[in-house]
Amino acid sequence: MIGPAPGPPPRYPSSARAPGKCILFGEHAVVRGAPELVLAIDLETQVVVRTAERTQLNADPGALETNRYFHEALAAAGALEAGWDVRSVSRVPRAAGLGSSAAFVTAFSLALRGDAAGSLDRPELAQRSFDVERAAQGVGSPGDTSTSVAGGYVTLNAGPEGGEPLWTVRAGPERWEVRRATDPGWAWVVAYSGLPRSTAEAVKAVAVRLEQPDGRSLLEEFAGVARDGIDAVRREDPEAVGRLLGRNQRLLREVGVSHPRIEALLDAAAPAVLGAKLTGAGRGGSIVALPVPGREVELVRRLARAGAVAYTVRPSAGVERVAATGADPAT
Ligand code: MEV
Repeated sequence: MIGPAPGPPPRYPSSARAPGKCILFGEHAVVRGAPELVLAIDLETQVVVRTAERTQLNADPGALETNRYFHEALAAAGALEAGWDVRSVSRVPRAAGLGSSAAFVTAFSLALRGDAAGSLDRPELAQRSFDVERAAQGVGSPGDTSTSVAGGYVTLNAGPEGGEPLWTVRAGPERWEVRRATDPGWAWVVAYSGLPRSTAEAVKAVAVRLEQPDGRSLLEEFAGVARDGIDAVRREDPEAVGRLLGRNQRLLREVGVSHPRIEALLDAAAPAVLGAKLTGAGRGGSIVALPVPGREVELVRRLARAGAVAYTVRPSAGVERVAATGADPAT
């Protein structure tokens, strides 16, 4: 049985697209319940699902063994026994801190439900996508998956200051409250260093660091910066946001997830930004920068000269079904 809802039987091929994300404030600390602000970005993943004799992902029949996200998504849908031909094409660089796994899991989980009519239960899909990502990764918060489901600006654990309530995501006794924050209408730039990194390893290393005697006060500082950052975005105060991005970066450095390549990109960006920081798990991966208005192109050039792959990004809509034409998304 695919999907939770009774109704007409699902039809295939079926397709969905979902956005990647960049974390503006609060990565790592969100895993321990601190506030976070995340933006869904217009780098997206599209997945097409067909029924087939045997299961494969992008023509790889070994993917069930090698790709845990693929395996866990099928398991969560109760669809491991059937055969699926799955194609995924993405503009989100992998292992770059930009939410490639969340975008895949979210788009795939929706596409697996087939092309049947019916409204999309976003709270249910947010919980399912987080369950899948957490089962595959073993650690983490629902920030990435919920942002991929919701689109736009999203807060976690921020209380009423964080916007209108969307849903609550649970893992055992843990819970994260997800809200829709207002969009200030700014351009952001993200830049991938070219150094892939593992979210699970970075999260575990930070957990060890936060066990130290100053861990509690560090966590409080993370929470304070994220709360102030969420407030500054809500007030549409870019200068304050820029300063707070810098403070968040100092904390991330303190817990050991920056990297010389990341610091080099932040230096290269500095003359053209109001503020910048690493985004995502760190130890490589990407940065996010708030450009000085009018200097977005200069910023992208500076980052490219420093060896990064840079993108000007705008907010993306959340996951949605795409009409499956029968053609592969890559063609
Ligand atoms: C990863 O994109 C962000 C982390 O906070 C982990 C998580 O929240 O799942 C490092």
